[in-house]
Amino acid sequence: MLVELLLVLIATVLVMVSVSEGLNSEGKRLLELKQGLGDEFNFLGNWKSTDETPCGWTGVTCTSTGYVWSLDLNSKNLSGLLSPSMGGLIHLTYLDLSHNEFKGEIPKQIFVNCSLLTFLYLEDNQLGGPIPDKIGNLSLLEEFVAYDNTLTGVLPRTISNLQKLRIFRVENNAIFGNIPAGIFTCQSLQFLGLGNNPLGGEIPKEIGMLGNLTDLMLYKNGLAGQIPVEIGNLKFLKRLSLFTNDLDGSIPKETGNLTLAKEIDFSQNYLTGEIPIEFSKIKGLSLLHLFQNQLTGVIPNELSRLRNLLDLQLSQNYLTGPIPPNLCRYSKLIRLVLGNNKLCGSIPTGIINCRSLQVLSVTGNSFSGSISAEIGNLVNLTKIKLGNNNFSGPIPLEIGNCKQLQKLIIDGNHFTSKLPNEIGKLSQLMLLNVSSNLLTGQIPTEIVNCKMLQRLDFSHNAFAGSLPNELGTISQLELLKLSENRFSGSIPPSLGSLSRLIELQMGGNRFSGKIPPELGFLSSLQVALNLSYNYLTGNVPAELGKLSSLEVLLLNNNYLSGEIPSTFQDLLSLMEFNFSYNNFSGSLPAIPILKKMNSCNLIDVNSAYLGNPFLEPLPLPEACSSASDRPSSLEPETSVDMKTFKVSFLVTYSIILLSFAAVLYINPYWRQAWFYYIELSINSCYYFVVDNLSYLKTLY
Ligand SMILES: *[C@@H]1O[C@H](CO)[C@@H](O)[C@H](O)[C@H]1NC(C)=O
Ligand SMILES: *[C@@H]1O[C@H](CO)[C@@H](O)[C@H](O)[C@H]1NC(C)=O
Ligand SMILES: *[C@@H]1O[C@H](CO)[C@@H](O)[C@H](O)[C@H]1NC(C)=O
Ligand SMILES: *[C@@H]1O[C@H](CO)[C@@H](O)[C@H](O)[C@H]1NC(C)=O
Ligand SMILES: *[C@@H]1O[C@H](CO)[C@@H](O)[C@H](O)[C@H]1NC(C)=O
Ligand SMILES: *[C@@H]1O[C@H](CO)[C@@H](O)[C@H](O)[C@H]1NC(C)=O
Ligand SMILES: *[C@@H]1O[C@H](CO)[C@@H](O)[C@H](O)[C@H]1NC(C)=O
Ligand SMILES: *[C@@H]1O[C@H](CO)[C@@H](O)[C@H](O)[C@H]1NC(C)=O
Ligand SMILES: *[C@@H]1O[C@H](CO)[C@@H](O)[C@H](O)[C@H]1NC(C)=O
Ligand SMILES: *[C@@H]1O[C@H](CO)[C@@H](O)[C@H](O)[C@H]1NC(C)=O
Ligand SMILES: *[C@@H]1O[C@H](CO)[C@@H](O)[C@H](O)[C@H]1NC(C)=O
Repeated sequence: MLVELLLVLIATVLVMVSVSEGLNSEGKRLLELKQGLGDEFNFLGNWKSTDETPCGWTGVTCTSTGYVWSLDLNSKNLSGLLSPSMGGLIHLTYLDLSHNEFKGEIPKQIFVNCSLLTFLYLEDNQLGGPIPDKIGNLSLLEEFVAYDNTLTGVLPRTISNLQKLRIFRVENNAIFGNIPAGIFTCQSLQFLGLGNNPLGGEIPKEIGMLGNLTDLMLYKNGLAGQIPVEIGNLKFLKRLSLFTNDLDGSIPKETGNLTLAKEIDFSQNYLTGEIPIEFSKIKGLSLLHLFQNQLTGVIPNELSRLRNLLDLQLSQNYLTGPIPPNLCRYSKLIRLVLGNNKLCGSIPTGIINCRSLQVLSVTGNSFSGSISAEIGNLVNLTKIKLGNNNFSGPIPLEIGNCKQLQKLIIDGNHFTSKLPNEIGKLSQLMLLNVSSNLLTGQIPTEIVNCKMLQRLDFSHNAFAGSLPNELGTISQLELLKLSENRFSGSIPPSLGSLSRLIELQMGGNRFSGKIPPELGFLSSLQVALNLSYNYLTGNVPAELGKLSSLEVLLLNNNYLSGEIPSTFQDLLSLMEFNFSYNNFSGSLPAIPILKKMNSCNLIDVNSAYLGNPFLEPLPLPEACSSASDRPSSLEPETSVDMKTFKVSFLVTYSIILLSFAAVLYINPYWRQAWFYYIELSINSCYYFVVDNLSYLKTLY
């Protein structure tokens, strides 16, 4: 009986001991991980030490035998350092820590101990340090995704051990060094993402041996040398992105062998030679970006065979000849960007009828001819940029059918006739630049229906007549440029309602009458108010003194009279002004900029008042050259000057010292000479002191 009781007791104790032993070792490793983490939203709330296994915890999945094989903590707003204890999860095959705020290094223990790891996702964190060499020991690794972190160091050569690696992505990190040529042994690789890192060296030609590659992302690095011809062997490649590197040489014809490619981007390099006609073999090509290179020759007609081409951008090269007429034969083209080349001819009807077009940019070429009415069929067009060419003829009124238009830029051409009223149908228009053409007639009142307009540039044309008074209702307007036309009549007071206006350029017209006081309400006005070279009369309204952000105020060459308002002393931001050639009288107000200026600059300042015979000139300082012995009546200004003087003195002094040190550092001969000279001086000093001391001694 007693023995039985004892046995029961012992058994219970044993059971209790085993229960109190509690959580298994993998669970403990996970708790160690949790301890170091910030968990703002308590996602790991059910990770408790009282459980026996972690198998029911958020993000944890176990094998049937009770081992943790998967840990998925993506997008849980977790922060802090990753604990080396994770190395204890030796059955882990799937680890997803992506989209959190983890920092510090990736614990090496993961790479050493978790030898079954197959999927490792770390993207979008703040992980730093290098990718450990030990990655080469994860022989089962298929996907390594760590873009958007702060990883540094070089790419470990051991990657070449990873025979099963399909996806390796480390875009947007700080990984430097070369692309290891040994990478070709990763025969399963499909996605190689190294974009936006400071990688250097050349693209190894061995890359052509990665026969399964579909995505090669090497953009935004410092890769130099030529594009290897072997790239043409990557017959499954869909996306080839090499933009923004230092690549030179010509585009290999073999690129045309990438028959499954959809996107090829070689832009922003130093590529020379012609555009290979072999591109036309890539039937599925939808995006071809070759802009900002040094390409020559013509745009190959053969590109017209690309029935899936949506986005063709060839701007900023040295391309010549015309636009291939059938480029939009299959009515798919959405973006055609050819600006800043040496292209010529007219815009082919095939393009003007390309209804899928959204962006048409041919800025800065030598295109000529007129724009036909068919442009009105391009109902999806959002941007037309025709600036700086030799286009002529009228602006077709059908432009009003392009209802999606946001930017209409046709500056620097020879467009004639008037601006069509239909422009008022463009309710999405944000930028209209017709500057430097031969446009005539009045500004159509309908323009005020373009409620989204932010920048409006009519300058350097032959527009005439008075401005529509409703111009002041285009409330988003930030820039209004009317300069160098033949506008007449008075300035509409409604302009004063343009509360977002930053710059108002009205110079070089025939505006007459008084300056409306309402212009003083343009509280955002900052860059300039330019009313110069007009026929304005009367007094300057005191309200202009409210333009406290204004930096440039030009009223010169008008017929303004009376006193310059004393409120101009409130123009605290003014840096440049010109009131010359009017009929102002009286004395000058104390404009703040004048106080800040060195009084000797008054000689220049006076040219801002020239040609106002009844205006009292500013008293010139009697002797600018002897400014130092002027009386102290200018105390505040001089104290400001003293301050700037001291600062600039210190700066200059440091620069001199630094350059002296630099010279000594760079030129060993001068350095030697200098130290020899110092030694000489010290020696002579020493003897001087010793001699004098002995002389003093003799005195006592
Ligand atoms: C978690 O972080 C993401 C950004 O990583 C943020 O967008 C989201 O709002 C955060 N969640 C909460 C609930 O604040
Ligand atoms: C990694 O494995 C070794 C032996 O296989 C073991 O001694 C070590 O504790 C493990 N590291 C971690 C962090 O669990
Ligand atoms: C890692 O791989 C290297 C060579 O590839 C090998 O020498 C080493 O023993 C491996 N280490 C482990 C822990 O498997
Ligand atoms: C593609 O990958 C498979 C394994 O996923 C491999 O067997 C095959 O050799 C690879 N093909 C090439 C051309 O490298
Ligand atoms: C690759 O392209 C080159 C030049 O365009 C051509 O001579 C060669 O036959 C192509 N190779 C294959 C396998 O298609
Ligand atoms: C214009 O755009 C719309 C919506 O994006 C699209 O459905 C339509 O097909 C486009 N029109 C043309 C002519 O491509
Ligand atoms: C521009 O076109 C006009 C005809 O419209 C022509 O006379 C002139 O030579 C062209 N200028 C340039 C620079 O091509
Ligand atoms: C319009 O084009 C001219 C050049 O022709 C340029 O100087 C000006 O800044 C442009 N205006 C706007 C608002 O972009
Ligand atoms: C002001 O307008 C005149 C006349 O168009 C022009 O010559 C001058 O350059 C403009 N000045 C500034 C600073 O905008
Ligand atoms: C200029 O102003 C003076 C005095 O204010 C006046 O006498 C004179 O008639 C004005 N001259 C012109 C041309 O308006
Ligand atoms: C003011 O404009 C006149 C031309 O009307 C010019 O001669 C003078 O140099 C300008 N002064 C300043 C300070 O811009």
